[in-house]
Amino acid sequence: VTRCLSNVSFLYKLSFSWDAITEMDEQNRPIHTFQVCHVMEPNQNNWLRSGWIQRQVYVELRFTLRDCNSIPWVSGTCKETFNLFYLQTDEPLPGGTRFRPTDYAKVDTIAADESFTQTDLGDRVLRLNTEVREVGPVTQKGFYLAFQDVGACIALVSVKVFYKRCPSTLRNLAAFPDTVPHMDSSSLVEVRGACVENAEERDTPKLYCGADGDWLVPLGRCVCSIGHEEMDSLCQACKPGFFKAYAGNTKCTKCPPHSSSHDQAATICHCDKSFYRAIKDPSTMAWPPSAPRNLVSLINDTALFLQWMPPRDTGGRKDITYNILCQRCDTTDSEGVVTQCEPCEPDLRFIPRPLGLTGTSVAILDFAMHANYTFHVEAVNGVSGLGVAARSLANVTVNTHQAGEFLFYLYVSNCDKNVSITANISYLIHDYSSTRTKVPSVVVTGLRPSTVYVFHVRARTAAGYTAYSPNFEFSTAAEGKKERERESERERARERERERERERERESHGNSVCKVFPFSGIKTYVDPDTYEDPTQAVEEFAKEIDPSYICIERVIGAGEFGEVCSGRLHIPGRIDVAVAIKTLKGGYMEHQRRDFLREASIIGQFNSPNIIRLEGVVTKSKLLMIVVEYMENGALDSFLRKRDGQFTVLQLVGMLRGIAVGMTYLSDMGYVHRDLAARNILVDKNLVCKVSDFGMSRVLEDDTEAAYTTTGGKIPIRWTAPEAIAYGKFSSASDVWSYAIVMWEVMSYGERPYWEMSNQDVILSIEEGYRLPAPMGCPVTLHQLMLHCWQKEAGQRPRFSDVLSFLDKLIINPGSLLTLVNDVQSLPDSPEDMHDYPLFISIGDWLDSIKMSQYKNNFLAAGYTTLDSISTMSIDDIRRIGVCLIGHQRRIISSIQSLRLQFHHIQQNGFQV
Ligand code: ADE
Repeated sequence: VTRCLSNVSFLYKLSFSWDAITEMDEQNRPIHTFQVCHVMEPNQNNWLRSGWIQRQVYVELRFTLRDCNSIPWVSGTCKETFNLFYLQTDEPLPGGTRFRPTDYAKVDTIAADESFTQTDLGDRVLRLNTEVREVGPVTQKGFYLAFQDVGACIALVSVKVFYKRCPSTLRNLAAFPDTVPHMDSSSLVEVRGACVENAEERDTPKLYCGADGDWLVPLGRCVCSIGHEEMDSLCQACKPGFFKAYAGNTKCTKCPPHSSSHDQAATICHCDKSFYRAIKDPSTMAWPPSAPRNLVSLINDTALFLQWMPPRDTGGRKDITYNILCQRCDTTDSEGVVTQCEPCEPDLRFIPRPLGLTGTSVAILDFAMHANYTFHVEAVNGVSGLGVAARSLANVTVNTHQAGEFLFYLYVSNCDKNVSITANISYLIHDYSSTRTKVPSVVVTGLRPSTVYVFHVRARTAAGYTAYSPNFEFSTAAEGKKERERESERERARERERERERERERESHGNSVCKVFPFSGIKTYVDPDTYEDPTQAVEEFAKEIDPSYICIERVIGAGEFGEVCSGRLHIPGRIDVAVAIKTLKGGYMEHQRRDFLREASIIGQFNSPNIIRLEGVVTKSKLLMIVVEYMENGALDSFLRKRDGQFTVLQLVGMLRGIAVGMTYLSDMGYVHRDLAARNILVDKNLVCKVSDFGMSRVLEDDTEAAYTTTGGKIPIRWTAPEAIAYGKFSSASDVWSYAIVMWEVMSYGERPYWEMSNQDVILSIEEGYRLPAPMGCPVTLHQLMLHCWQKEAGQRPRFSDVLSFLDKLIINPGSLLTLVNDVQSLPDSPEDMHDYPLFISIGDWLDSIKMSQYKNNFLAAGYTTLDSISTMSIDDIRRIGVCLIGHQRRIISSIQSLRLQFHHIQQNGFQV
């Protein structure tokens, strides 16, 4: 957002050479200009100065400039540029202050993109130039602008003075004021937000204002206070009839039945007359339960059973219990109508008890034969009896004439066909029912695998059938054991095939495998720390070089132990090679020697075109040396900073591909780098990038970016995955996270990840789901790959081989790199609208990345061809397209959920530049 500053339109002539001239434009409207054109006279020095301008600004100049070639006889004196100067002061200079050009600092020499000629003048086509310059750094309150003409023919048409700002905004229920960013694009302004009215702070709300006037990295939040809910980014009062008892980002809720609120912003609803809430009850509870449902009785020779279902309405509470009230109603009139009931005999036994039952059945023993009993089952909760509401009763009358045998019936239905198969299994029931057990159990055999069965039970007594029990749903095991074994054998075969492919790829890169394990065919990294004597590890993995073969030429850097030099390695009979030499000076301690040589033992095990190559070590002289190939362009981060904006996207992706090749090699060997960052990548003269700086603990001690965590480890926070920071879980998946940070560094030409945010804020913002936005000019596909690698769940991130094949696809199809983040014009307002924005990673890549490649055809056959099309899939949809294994269904659905979250983040933050 830019703002023009008013009141700076005045310019003062400081010599008579500049003239204020009003001309007419093509539409015959007057334009006021300042003009100078003393091109015939040598040594021109004509000044024009502005009034005093408060604050730091940008200046946009519109001017025309005459082409010197079009003016005869002026060569030598005529110029085609003019100079822009500024002078800082804290307040306007007093009137009459003498103008001293030497007080002014130069902003720039301004040249015209378009100059005009005599012919143009005849046509009255003035070619207008527009140039914008940043004025500053301005450390004082304001400044003057001055224009110096040194012999050009210029008409200054307008001077626009403006500044950029992050506009006041509401985020996470906090208000952030208009903020003027720092001019320096690498530094952000941290702004604290103030909670909107009727909201309260949870974590301090913060935003960062970027140099271009964009808000970045929302942190913390406010929540609506009691009686208020979020609407249109504000906290609005609950409407009458609604309430909100707790502060938080929840909605107001409708008053529970039998209660109401008459005013706005209610924090509680008041119970209607005769309805009560116990003192400790939450505001959502208000009333006694309704009556129990479906009360039935069963009877046999010795016991009478009552069963019922819980009340439909529990009164919003979880403390329902039941009481059994019993009456004998034997006295009847001449027509058999009950005339009198009396309490049941006191020796009637209730199992487990008559009052305070928490279950929904009771057994009654020792009843009289040939009697009429009426049982009332009462449902009560914590507020029953507090008022005058009617009791919640269900009744059943039992005539004990009916006492006799009863049978259980088990019904089974299969959800595939939804038919009752009672008849098929009746032989099972027959055995069981004849046992007349009170603890029913049944063994059902002969069921199909991977099938859901629904069971329900009812009983029959001489008095007829009872109600059905609720349905019980069981599913038989997903697959037979054999089938499972076959599936894992298939998975192992697939993995072996993948390994063979990787091996072929390595061999095609000209690598020889030097340590082959008997069965797997994969070379595995051996941790030098597992050697009792570290010298032995060095001997095994590094060649000893005679120091006389090494010619040190220059010091190129400083390591923790000593200098890093460049030089030449001349091994007799071989061509000289340029090398870098890390040194450890004499006088070192034993542990320093061990740590120093450790790196050589690690690099010596690798052989990849994208890993720094070890030429050898010098351990037999006082000065220890590690000799590696020389990389002409040094470290990637500083290299990119020096060459800002000078590469094509394809060149940058080529560099990233090299790093991915190196990292795929390392992860295949089982080596976890832990400090992958652009500063630890070296670049050769052909722009080939190679992973360097191995040795973990030592490297991290050495790395100025590494900070101590609360657990005492030293970790480069901005490059490290959250699980590695939080509990030291370093893995190839955490290296993938770091790799995506390197991608971001590369695409932003060495910008510092998360700019100058503190480490603590970086950790917090990652935890809250913030991810780095795409760097300016970054293809959308690459940023999506970064987001994919920055998934919170390590298991959901792609593997390095997936990253590599994705980059290869982009390189083969460079059209995929054409959509730049800056080109995406508008963003969806809600996740639902995401469908309008095709996402650029294919279904195939996605399935590869979650190791579910076998379902590619299922998705394609069902018409799911883009990632946005799968974003609304449910587990049922996954089943429907033929993913049968529950584990696979889960893996796919959880990846979709996490993609959905990522997309939501792209939408929220991702496209900010
Ligand atoms: N700095 C550290 N190692 C280097 C290498 N191998 N080549 C160039 N510069 C380096």
